[in-house]
Amino acid sequence: MTSSDIGEAARTVLSTADARGKAAAGRAVATAWRDGGLAMPSRVTLPDRPARPAEPPLLSPHAMRKRKITAAPAGRIALLHAIAHIELNAVDLAWDAVARFPDAGFPRAYVDDWVRVADEESKHFLLLADRLEAMGSRYGAMPAHDGLWQAAEQTMDDPLARHAVVPLVLEARGLDVTPAMVAKLRSVGDDASADIFQIIYDDEIGHVAVGKRWFDYLCIQRGLEPVSTWQEIVRARFRGGVKPPFNVPAREAAGFSSAFYGPLGEEYEAARRDKR
Ligand SMILES: [Fe+2]
Ligand SMILES: [Fe+2]
Repeated sequence: MTSSDIGEAARTVLSTADARGKAAAGRAVATAWRDGGLAMPSRVTLPDRPARPAEPPLLSPHAMRKRKITAAPAGRIALLHAIAHIELNAVDLAWDAVARFPDAGFPRAYVDDWVRVADEESKHFLLLADRLEAMGSRYGAMPAHDGLWQAAEQTMDDPLARHAVVPLVLEARGLDVTPAMVAKLRSVGDDASADIFQIIYDDEIGHVAVGKRWFDYLCIQRGLEPVSTWQEIVRARFRGGVKPPFNVPAREAAGFSSAFYGPLGEEYEAARRDKR
């Protein structure tokens, strides 16, 4: 490793195109950080879009096929592939969070938190990539969702918005939907995949907690009221809406109370009723 600070190291991970190479580079940087071998992030120019492998081809979300979890492997492989793609994106999102906001006044604990998240996202990606290969497929074998980086692009200017949207909307949504996937995978006898999803779920509670911790930190720094601030940012910057039902116990375990997202969930339902 030639980087001298964690910002430069983050840029190296973001600029690595090969998927396993990116995940492995991230794990190595995380180890170097924990060993004290890297300084706090300096001002570095990060890529607007991270480097990605030539495969999978990226398609618009509308072009993606629905994946069903059945005893036949095809649907499960498609699901694992889709989640692997999300995890690879999460690797980049976490390294971007480490290095994107050197002027925000974050302490060392901020970098510790996001480096740990980044390392776990690499672990998630590699578990899924290995599982895909064990099932006779591989990451890159089918098209994937383009547009996952959108949330990053829409929040490049402000760490408060980044934390409001990426961990507290997107990663929190993962907590809502993952338990049903674990149960379904077990019901068709795929314990190997279910075990991976369970690891991801347990780790992701921590990622939402990290998001909440630094969202709160910025609110205090700026003298903002957290609940209304979060709601205003999400309404302004996140198109998809905040979709119920919520996994309240998991969100609670992450320190994220329904006072934040409950009202936006009601707005989502009301908008859906109006459309009918
Ligand atoms: Fe993850
Ligand atoms: Fe995560």
